[in-house]
Amino acid sequence: MAAINIQKVGIIGTGFVGTSIAFTLLQKGLFSEMVLIDVNRDKAEGEAMDLSHGIPFAKPMAICAGDYDDIADAGLVIVTAGAAQKPGETRLDLVNKNVGIFKSIIPEIAKRNRDAILLIVSNPVDILTYVAWRLSGYPQERVIGSGTVLDSARLRYLLGQRLAVNPQSVHAYIIGEHGDSELAVWSEANVSGIALDQFCEFRGYRAHAENEQKIYEHVVNAAYDIIQKKGATYFGVGMAVGRIAEALFRDEHAVMPVSVNMRGIYGIKGDLFLSMPAIVGASGIEKVLPLDLSAGESERFFRSVTALQGIIDAIDL
Ligand code: 2OP
Repeated sequence: MAAINIQKVGIIGTGFVGTSIAFTLLQKGLFSEMVLIDVNRDKAEGEAMDLSHGIPFAKPMAICAGDYDDIADAGLVIVTAGAAQKPGETRLDLVNKNVGIFKSIIPEIAKRNRDAILLIVSNPVDILTYVAWRLSGYPQERVIGSGTVLDSARLRYLLGQRLAVNPQSVHAYIIGEHGDSELAVWSEANVSGIALDQFCEFRGYRAHAENEQKIYEHVVNAAYDIIQKKGATYFGVGMAVGRIAEALFRDEHAVMPVSVNMRGIYGIKGDLFLSMPAIVGASGIEKVLPLDLSAGESERFFRSVTALQGIIDAIDL
C-alpha cells in the first residue's frame, strides 16, 4: 500500500454536492492535490478542467479526474455519490438505492487505501456512514458523516438573524439524525456563554418555546424548501463539508456535530451512527462529547435512535 499523502483529497461523485465541496476546498486553499471520481468520467474531467482554470486565483493545486487507483494514497476521501432527494422524498427514501451504490464504491476504496479518513456526505448520511464503516473495515474514528453540521449552521444562521448577532457567536446544536427526527438542543444553546433565553430577553423576545419551535421547523424543513424551489441543496453542504475537511486537515481539535458511532453512549448497545458534538482532528474523531440532554430532548433523541436502528437492522450487507 502506498504511503498516505495528507495533502491529497479524493472526492467520489461530481454532482452538485461533490463539485460544491471541490470548489470550497479550492477556495480555502486546502490540499495540494484533488482527484475527482465519477461514474461519468467526462463529467469528472469537465469539472476538473473548469475548477483548474480558477487556480491562478487560488493556491496551487493539482486537480484531475481519476479512478480508484489515484486515491490509493489520499489522506481524505469524501463520498458524495448516490441518488439525490427529489421534491417530496425524504432522505430515508434513498436508503436502498444508495446502499447499493456504496457496495460498489467503498470496497474499491478500502482495498487500495487502509489509512484514509472517509468523510461521508451522501444521504441518508447516518445510515450510509454506518454502511461505509462496515464495508470498509476502517476503525470507527476514521469514518465520519457530515451529519448535522449543516443543520446546526442553519440553526445558528436563523438565530443570528433573529437576534441580530453574528452566527459565529451562537453556540447551538442540532443532533441525532440528519433528517426528519433531528432535534435542537435548546437546553444548552447560548450566545457566547449567555443562555439563549436570557439573550432573547435582551432583544425583547419572551415567547421562548413558541419561537424555538418556529425556528426548529425552518431548520428541519430547509432542505425540502430548497429542493422544492431550486431542485437540490449544495452550497450550504459544500461549505459545511469544507469546514469539516479543514478541521481534519489542520488537526484543529474542533468541536462539530458530525455523525459518529454512538455505541456505548447514553447506554446505546448497537452500532449506530448519529450526530453528536465531537472533537475532530487529523486522526478523525478524537472524542465524542455527549450533551447533557433535558428529559424531553433525551426522549426525542431516542426516537431518532429507534428510527435509524430499525433501518440498519433491515439492511443486507
Ligand atoms: C440538506 O440538508 C439535502 O441533506 C441535504 O441540504
